[in-house]
Amino acid sequence: MGKKSLEIAGPNVDKNIGMLHRAYAFEMQTSHYFQYVANNIEGLGVLFDDFFGERAKEEQGHASEINDRLMELGANPTDDPGSWEKESGLGKTESKKYLSLRSALERALELERFGIGLYNELANATKDRDHGTYQLALKLLTDELEDEQTIEDILARLEIRDVREAGAS
Ligand SMILES: [Fe+2]
Repeated sequence: MGKKSLEIAGPNVDKNIGMLHRAYAFEMQTSHYFQYVANNIEGLGVLFDDFFGERAKEEQGHASEINDRLMELGANPTDDPGSWEKESGLGKTESKKYLSLRSALERALELERFGIGLYNELANATKDRDHGTYQLALKLLTDELEDEQTIEDILARLEIRDVREAGAS
């Protein structure tokens, strides 16, 4: 625990710690989602193995950064994977349902957007108060915004449509 770190984090530190716990659970879930998809994706999606594997590593890195900040503030994240879905507020990721390329990317987009909402909230809550957590929130927000853009771009150029979609157009 960083004594000075805790002191300067301000009076709302408990609330910020709660949000960091939530973010940790979210990142661990999302990392697992991407790794599961990388390992199990079907059809043309196998060409995207590396993309999903890289995202899994990135989210794992985010979880580590959040872990570091929690420790500076005198806390440790949960050690119970069974608590992630509740703690994050995300619910189950249900990775097995999203093993075609388009569905895997669409689900990934939902997860990235959940993260964007979470880090935006964390940045708003810590701005001008808890500078260390604020910097981290901005960094993670930027990363998730980039990922959202990348996935949107891939989806926009994906020339695979399911039958219903093709029939409707
Ligand atoms: Fe992340």
